[in-house]
Amino acid sequence: MSSTWFETVAEAQRRAKKRLPKSVYSALLAGSERGVSYDDNTVAFSELGFAPHVAELSEKRDQSTELMGQSISLPVICSPTGVQAVHPDGEVAVARAAAARGTITGLSSFASKPIEEVVAANPQTFFQVYWLGSREAMLQRLERARAAGAPGLIVTTDWSFSMGRDWGSPSIPERLDLKAMARFAPEVVRRPKWLLEFAKAGYVPDLTTPNLVGPGEEAPTFFGAYYEWMQTPLPTWEDLAWLREQWDGPVMLKGICRVDDAKRAVDAGMTAISVSNHGGNNLDTTPAPIRVLPAIAEAVGGQVEIVLDGGVRRGGDVVKAVALGARAVMIGRAYLWGLAANGQPGVENVLDLLRSGIDSTLLGLGRSSIQELTPDDVIVAPGFTRTLGAR
Ligand SMILES: Cc1cc2nc3c(=O)[nH]c(=O)nc-3n(C[C@H](O)[C@H](O)[C@H](O)COP(=O)(O)O)c2cc1C
Repeated sequence: MSSTWFETVAEAQRRAKKRLPKSVYSALLAGSERGVSYDDNTVAFSELGFAPHVAELSEKRDQSTELMGQSISLPVICSPTGVQAVHPDGEVAVARAAAARGTITGLSSFASKPIEEVVAANPQTFFQVYWLGSREAMLQRLERARAAGAPGLIVTTDWSFSMGRDWGSPSIPERLDLKAMARFAPEVVRRPKWLLEFAKAGYVPDLTTPNLVGPGEEAPTFFGAYYEWMQTPLPTWEDLAWLREQWDGPVMLKGICRVDDAKRAVDAGMTAISVSNHGGNNLDTTPAPIRVLPAIAEAVGGQVEIVLDGGVRRGGDVVKAVALGARAVMIGRAYLWGLAANGQPGVENVLDLLRSGIDSTLLGLGRSSIQELTPDDVIVAPGFTRTLGAR
């Protein structure tokens, strides 16, 4: 086994911390305010337990499933993240790794690589949009994603523009050019491997967002785009239904925490919802998505495909989410740390760890496929779940 291989996501995180400049690492860690939601996302999974068998276990264990019309080889997909400055191959490396492991990649509107390159690396790419700019600009983005061949759309609207973390936010330059690199020099020289990767690729990361404009047009900077987003009038359910109609394929609405919102998403014609608190980066003290999943699954599980994201770090977490009503999960930081630790093979490493963890868990539980999982496979202590917005 090569020394670049890591055995857990926690180890990938340690390597990412060693390898990345401090600002880049803390931008990935993210979180918001006191970090309560960020912590709860992982703590909640550890509060759930399993009750394993010792005999009549299954020789064969199937993890394949379908999400938004795409067949995937395991119930894990890569969530869209604005992966800026982690690795020169950025979202293309993530897309290749996901394709190599037979699954979907989500591409953020704030991503650093053009969608055409990402879809070429993985035809199972879902493009993620925010309610950002004019309707015309939004339509232009959808048109570009359609022309590039993206088979699905993810709409993210759970962002409250909160600022400030008790442990401090990274200072991110407007554009990471050589001048800004010089300002960050003391951080960067302590991370020669990270710099070397970019030096080998022949450029410095520039923190622009090429997918917010037409192909080949000058890309706005991350902050320019963020400012425009803050100025955009906030969407209503009618606006979201309109957006859904503009895409003639499957659409996921990401960020659902409440039962009433889940029902509205069904009414707005969504194919899928992601039960999510944006990885704990949004409104702090929102409960972990795994706590709110059971009530949402009970209310709308028969009407919409349900995905969960937030805090997934091991195969057992995936099994818990599937047993409690999710069809699949999305991962964010886990693959970002893998990418930072070892590029594309690092992301493959993370997906492999999740796959083998799911397999071990199915084995212990005596299940032959993820389709057989039920809430009875998981020990849910009294008071664990939260039901938000059920009237
Ligand atoms: C650094 C970072 C950037 C993110 N950027 C986006 C984004 O651009 N669009 C989006 O819908 N979600 C974004 N997210 C949220 C993720 O898609 C996902 O909901 C979250 O990371 C899941 O939690 P996990 O990191 O614990 O797996 C981001 C998350 C992180 C950590």
